[in-house]
Amino acid sequence: MALYAIGDLHLSHGIDKPMDVFGGKWVDYMDKLTQGFKVLSEDDLCVMCGDISWGISLEESLEDFRYIENLPGKKILIKGNHDYWWTTVSKMKEFFEKNELKSIDILHNNSFNYDDVAICGTRGWLSDDKLTAQQNAKITARELIRLRASLEAAKDASKILCFLHYPPRLGNIICDDVISLLNEFGVKDCYYGHLHSEGHRLATRGVHDGINYEIISADYINFTPQRVI
Ligand SMILES: [Fe+2]
Ligand SMILES: [Fe+2]
Repeated sequence: MALYAIGDLHLSHGIDKPMDVFGGKWVDYMDKLTQGFKVLSEDDLCVMCGDISWGISLEESLEDFRYIENLPGKKILIKGNHDYWWTTVSKMKEFFEKNELKSIDILHNNSFNYDDVAICGTRGWLSDDKLTAQQNAKITARELIRLRASLEAAKDASKILCFLHYPPRLGNIICDDVISLLNEFGVKDCYYGHLHSEGHRLATRGVHDGINYEIISADYINFTPQRVI
């Protein structure tokens, strides 16, 4: 049994919005993902760090969920900024159950155990220039509540791994509130996605303020889930 992570699958099986149009690494990306997931076995676990499906409703994303269901192992999903299909946990779980999507679960205000290690996370946020300071503060505060709930659910774990969609550090933009929360709970490892193509240049990797950062956007890791444990 092993733990893997990957972000930004940007699946488009149910609607016509494939990422191939961006060229470069994204050409044939869904085939690359199918190939990449062959590193997993049925008893492995993979955290998917947001931007999972382009569908704008659960129904529109169903083909993408079926694709995920058929990938090996169990999958834990986190919301990304493009996951417009995301709704309440109870509605998503009910939909998964109704459609016999048995290998998919949701990380939202909760945590999962992997042996004595806890899997925590939330979407996160990075201040957006197009929003007012007040709007950015409101979104950040909401994400902090979610992250705290997830971390508190993992209190008894010997080690906590944090998975986010947005990087807490991007060039000069540093989300101090998220970082202090991670420090408060002794988190030493943070995995994130969201950054693509040229954005990879700004990616933080390695240890900063006691936390090791890894970027796991699909196009950064060649559409092959990265082994975490
Ligand atoms: Fe994103
Ligand atoms: Fe993305």
